Amino acid sequence: MEKLYEGKAKIVYRTEDPDKYLIYFKDEATAFDATKRSHVEGKGIINNTISSILFQLLWEKGIKNHYIQKVSDREMLVWRAERFDVEVVVRNVAAGSITKRLGIPEGTVFPSPVVEFFYKNDQLRDPLICEDHILLLNLLPKEDIGKVKEMALEVNRVLSLFFEEHGIRLVDFKLEFGRLPDGSVGVIDEISPDTCRLWDMRTGEKLDKDRFRFDLGDLIEGYRRVLEKLHRG
Ligand code: C5P
Repeated sequence: MEKLYEGKAKIVYRTEDPDKYLIYFKDEATAFDATKRSHVEGKGIINNTISSILFQLLWEKGIKNHYIQKVSDREMLVWRAERFDVEVVVRNVAAGSITKRLGIPEGTVFPSPVVEFFYKNDQLRDPLICEDHILLLNLLPKEDIGKVKEMALEVNRVLSLFFEEHGIRLVDFKLEFGRLPDGSVGVIDEISPDTCRLWDMRTGEKLDKDRFRFDLGDLIEGYRRVLEKLHRG
């Protein structure tokens, strides 16, 4: 199959159907603009599984996304999408970059979710941008900015409740959006412990990529625990 794009953690292939792509989840872990990297055996399998569960849940809740089906351990069939070069972060609890940028102590619970936009641009190291910047850079049509923000908040409501039911607090996460073949806006990319901060609600333990970023413990061990909790129900 023709490789369309290779990123840090995934490869996207064309399929015989021009409207469908195949995503392959790799075992590479990267952090801090890929200045820290490592091979983590089995990560791709877990991220494909968790992403598949979460994208299916979004469909069940009526939230459009690119997911069609999980076709193997490491592969997911998705709808073709024209990616918007915007990363949308939703935060429920202070952690990561907002603690440094705004001087808010980690663990501060926000009265309502905070939505941030970042320009997806490696050279510029994904800077924080505002809605006017999105228009200025033509990253999204004006009428879709509000739509994307509303969808991100709806995803947050659905995922927060789901994780909470499984003993996990959804601290924050990043979403990407694109235009699907039918012209609608949908969630694309992946939703996994690589792209979410997930804390064990009982112990407070971090089960996500911060384990790798800050050497907090075995990465795959945390990811496995997320999957076990989701399966246990
Ligand atoms: O680093 P920061 O605190 O801004 O990250 C917020 C959330 O977005 C975290 O869950 C992080 O894993 C995710 N993120 C991501 N990809 C990026 C930047 C952040 O998945 N390029």
